[in-house]
Amino acid sequence: MTGGDTLTDTAPQPDLSVNLAGIELANPLLTASGTSGYAWEYSDFVDLRLLGGFVTKSITLAPRKGNEPPRIVETRAGMLNAIGLANVGLEAFLRDKVPQLRELGKPVIVNVAGTAIDDYCQVAARLDDVDVVRGLELNISCPNVKEGGITFGTDPAQASRITAAIRKVVRNKVLIVKLSPNVTDIAVIARAVVEAGADALSLVNTFTAMVVDVEKRRPMLTNGTGGLSGPAIRPIAVYMVHRVYDQVARQAKVPIIGMGGIQFARDALEFLIAGATALSIGTALFADPTTPAKILDGLREYCTRHKIAAIREIIGTLKLHEPATGPKSTYASQK
Ligand SMILES: Cc1cc2nc3c(=O)[nH]c(=O)nc-3n(C[C@H](O)[C@H](O)[C@H](O)COP(=O)(O)O)c2cc1C
Repeated sequence: MTGGDTLTDTAPQPDLSVNLAGIELANPLLTASGTSGYAWEYSDFVDLRLLGGFVTKSITLAPRKGNEPPRIVETRAGMLNAIGLANVGLEAFLRDKVPQLRELGKPVIVNVAGTAIDDYCQVAARLDDVDVVRGLELNISCPNVKEGGITFGTDPAQASRITAAIRKVVRNKVLIVKLSPNVTDIAVIARAVVEAGADALSLVNTFTAMVVDVEKRRPMLTNGTGGLSGPAIRPIAVYMVHRVYDQVARQAKVPIIGMGGIQFARDALEFLIAGATALSIGTALFADPTTPAKILDGLREYCTRHKIAAIREIIGTLKLHEPATGPKSTYASQK
């Protein structure tokens, strides 16, 4: 180093790019479906150019008004929503939203929802021909709709059936299946959808939950229950990403989009180390739209401090504690 040079002058910037089943992302950050509309509605708040890619609100075959308000309530460490998949429907999406998404200049992933296998397939088949769309994220995990929704995502046989049916009509796009955390073992569902043809997995969707108005002795949400998101769910979501990576995804070479309460760079790093390749940011955007910029700065700082040339080097590098040696555990010695 010559006089006047500093480490920051000369150090190359860490490479934040990742590859999501063939989709090249400039960095791992995506939006979480349903938290940034179809992009342009949020462009005054969130600097979309910073993102690695964009994930749309769920699209269904017909337009949906969603549930009656109130359909969002804040909790101490997150929020509960029961939007009920309100969206413009496939035709309006293709006509009005796709041209705007083309101008984004980022890989676009469209989230697809429905109430029966047939309508999921119709939406997926139409989107399979849309140039700007790189991936389809199949929402089989929405807790806020009466028919379909979560039931596909909580039963391995149904999860497998719907994935296989959609796999037949999706030939040009990366097929991502979004899993529900409302199950005993998320790895069982992950294995079912991977064996049925999923190219990638997203996890997690929201946790079914309730907030009670104690004065009225009624649920706060008209729907009764809603889906919990935000910081409250993060450690459970990190565990689930670890479990799916460890049991299914690593061996199958199927990348994971991790999400659930990501707010700071440290949270993003937890998910990457646990096995996620990309990360979706949702609830945090409502509290602080500059979240992606702060996370990206933090990822660069971490890489520089640990002398890591590329962020992808840390994916799935969690080191579990060695089993204890020495005296047998109390449990073992009681047997
Ligand atoms: C207001 C709101 C609307 C959502 N709508 C959808 C949706 O339409 N489709 C979907 O797959 N997930 C939806 N989600 C779930 C998020 O994409 C994400 O899985 C979840 O919120 C966890 O991430 P977070 O804690 O960063 O928000 C929604 C979440 C929120 C808060």
